[in-house]
Amino acid sequence: MTTTEGPTTPTARSQRPGERRPPAPTRTIGAERYTSPEFLRREFEHVWSKVWQLACLGSDIPEVGDHHLYEIGRASILVVRSAPDTIQAFHNVCLHRGRKIKTSCGNSAELRCPYHSFTWALDGTLKEIPERETFNPLDDARLGLLPVRCETFHDWVFVCLDADAAPLSEHLGPVTDILEKYRFDRQYKWWSRTTSNNANWKNGMDAFQESYHARYLHPESVAFANNVDYPIWFYGDHSSYVIPFGIADEVAAAQITPNWDEALDAMEWSLDAFGEDTSMVAALRGLNPPEGTSIRDVAIPGIRPAMTGAGFDVSALSDDELIDDRHIVLFPNVVLNIFAFGYWLFRVRPHPDDPDWTTWDLWYFHRVPDAMELPPNAPNVEVPAGESVGAVMDQDLRNIPHQQAGMKTGVFPGFVMSDYEARIAHMHDVIDRYLGE
Ligand code: FES
Ligand SMILES: [Fe+2]
Repeated sequence: MTTTEGPTTPTARSQRPGERRPPAPTRTIGAERYTSPEFLRREFEHVWSKVWQLACLGSDIPEVGDHHLYEIGRASILVVRSAPDTIQAFHNVCLHRGRKIKTSCGNSAELRCPYHSFTWALDGTLKEIPERETFNPLDDARLGLLPVRCETFHDWVFVCLDADAAPLSEHLGPVTDILEKYRFDRQYKWWSRTTSNNANWKNGMDAFQESYHARYLHPESVAFANNVDYPIWFYGDHSSYVIPFGIADEVAAAQITPNWDEALDAMEWSLDAFGEDTSMVAALRGLNPPEGTSIRDVAIPGIRPAMTGAGFDVSALSDDELIDDRHIVLFPNVVLNIFAFGYWLFRVRPHPDDPDWTTWDLWYFHRVPDAMELPPNAPNVEVPAGESVGAVMDQDLRNIPHQQAGMKTGVFPGFVMSDYEARIAHMHDVIDRYLGE
């Protein structure tokens, strides 16, 4: 396995001459890893049952009694705020005759199974068995809800089904140093959608761990994002790259040179596709800087005083980090695009049986001024498969099923990969380690 351990404070590649990506992968990645129900079964048995997974946010369950239902494969996990400062997780399985206790997120003062009303306190201890005298003698201590390991990183609540797994802090490792700089403790979720698409979960992840496709599938991006010169780092099971923003794509720019206003149009359209504020772009219109001036040349000197003046302490961020897209994959299923103003989090979950289906959770966050109370999270909205979740995400989510279909034709011999795609091979290396191969 190639491992390029990166610094915890990398900046754009253009700032570090000589930094390179790992070499183009040579390993075999065949279609069956994406299409085989047996491979999916093995992933559930050896990967999903062993690894820390982001279940929800603490701010999704702010009140005592709030519970979030996180389901992965056959596992059904109830994440409960059992006291103002305590979050616990349990298997969502009634210990009477096995019914799921809850079938949705919600709030309740206790956890009651609807079938025969067995009831547990929020901390999982048995509270009541109706008509208990009709049972043989029962040991209450053995009828507490089955616990699931649950640990937090700031507002993120993780669960792990493996009693022997290393602690969450060890799993996240050096990635947490990067996240701290962006003040993940000062961000709230302002947009939340759940949708699905007709493809394997790894095809979903792969589309977000290379930017080779950007100039072809997202041609609007070439005017303001350099998807050529991005460095790649591996952090244990995770990986990262930085996409320099505010400069043109090197490959595309060799063919077309977008002018200032065209580049601003493209950047505005793309930010708007994620519902983001485009006032920074509007402020750059009409400047007509000298030939060869990039958006980042003009924008960076303005962003720091603007954010500082608005009450954000951005002293931990370098100039590059004020504008670039810091991209992190948290193994196995979280994609982060991190900016100075906020971040986009995509979480994928495989279907329990069908390797051809993936559920997507798309959560977008904004940092709020340091002295401001965090607003409540936006409610989640379910979006049927194929319907729009924003123009750029639609380009990706509607593309991937065609890849899945191509893989299933029976003739695809396996991936041929560039060094742009080294993170894909890294993820398969990590999966193989979990599979014991
Ligand atoms: S199955 Fe839950 S109370 Fe009977
Ligand atoms: Fe994409």
